Amino acid sequence: MIDNNRDIIILGIESSCDDTSAAIIRNNLILSNEVAGQAVHIAYGGVVPELASRAHQQNIIPVVDLAIKKSGISMDEITAVAFTRGPGLLGSLLVGTSFAKGFALARKIPLIEVNHLQGHVLAHFVKEKSVEKKLPGFPFLCLLVSGGNSQIIIVRDHLDMEVIGQTIDDAAGEAFDKCAKVIGLPYPGGPMIDKLAKEGDPKAFKFAKPKLPGLDYSFSGLKTSFLYFIRDRMAENPNFIEENKADICASLQYTIIEVLMTKVKQAAKETGIRTIAVAGGVSANSGLRQALLDAAVKYNWEMHIPAFKFTTDNAAMISITGYYKYLKGEFASQDAVPYSRVSLK
Ligand code: KG4
Repeated sequence: MIDNNRDIIILGIESSCDDTSAAIIRNNLILSNEVAGQAVHIAYGGVVPELASRAHQQNIIPVVDLAIKKSGISMDEITAVAFTRGPGLLGSLLVGTSFAKGFALARKIPLIEVNHLQGHVLAHFVKEKSVEKKLPGFPFLCLLVSGGNSQIIIVRDHLDMEVIGQTIDDAAGEAFDKCAKVIGLPYPGGPMIDKLAKEGDPKAFKFAKPKLPGLDYSFSGLKTSFLYFIRDRMAENPNFIEENKADICASLQYTIIEVLMTKVKQAAKETGIRTIAVAGGVSANSGLRQALLDAAVKYNWEMHIPAFKFTTDNAAMISITGYYKYLKGEFASQDAVPYSRVSLK
């Protein structure tokens, strides 16, 4: 039987892609959240899975060690260890999964598996010392936009979520990154496009927007239209990219945001839910944040936007999900193997 009156301290491990992260949470209060990025991928213009796994192997022990030291707790106080089981790159996930299993066995503590996507959503429930924040009330809608996913989710409870719309091809982050590559920007291109877009005219160029019924997304047509647009303009003027970089970025970003926002507004209208949250790496985008805030004023939404450090991959979100699963007694066995693809439901 779980004693819910004592403090629950969860070590969270995230290794689904190219960030190795470890975090310690006491109940829902974050004590530490360490992330080691992997610069090795920049030269290749994208994440190289084999190199990611190797870097996780090198990073995992130092990152966990630092997270424990910075939290101020001792290893003996850790109640359970939570790890990202998927979705993600299999080799990367194996590193975090194997580490968590070994840690749980050695410390004789429970093991908790976490769905990475659920983690992104529950990042909204992480509390920080001396930061006042209102937590989203249930039910709420969450726009989850990252490098691998674009989804609209109804969140009925911490562990009760339903995907009501998702991309049928590329994710929004992929659209940012692949288009950025076309104009010669380094990986990941999303943050760079965001920065350059601030100086540009969002209406300078027009790109194809998908016309999908329902709440699903599609970004592959936009990517192709962007590629052909740049190819044609470069044929006319080889300096086209250099001379128009800010306008190109602003117009591309404007289009991606328009696509995302159209379905969020539709979802809010269809479900009648007016508490809206955003999560995932692309939620760091300043244009998207502004578009959501503007819509919140216009449609009377209660808007929840996470702190930047909780938008991209981090273990704080794995720890908080582990905390809610611990409260429900949802534990994993030592047989748990990572999965590369999985949806929330
Ligand atoms: O959630 P995340 O860290 O990783 C996973 O996909 O799991 O998201 C990474 C994605 C990348 O595609 C990156 O380009 C995008 O988030 N991203 C941004 C911004 N910051 C990160 N996209 C647009 N604007 C940003 N400021």
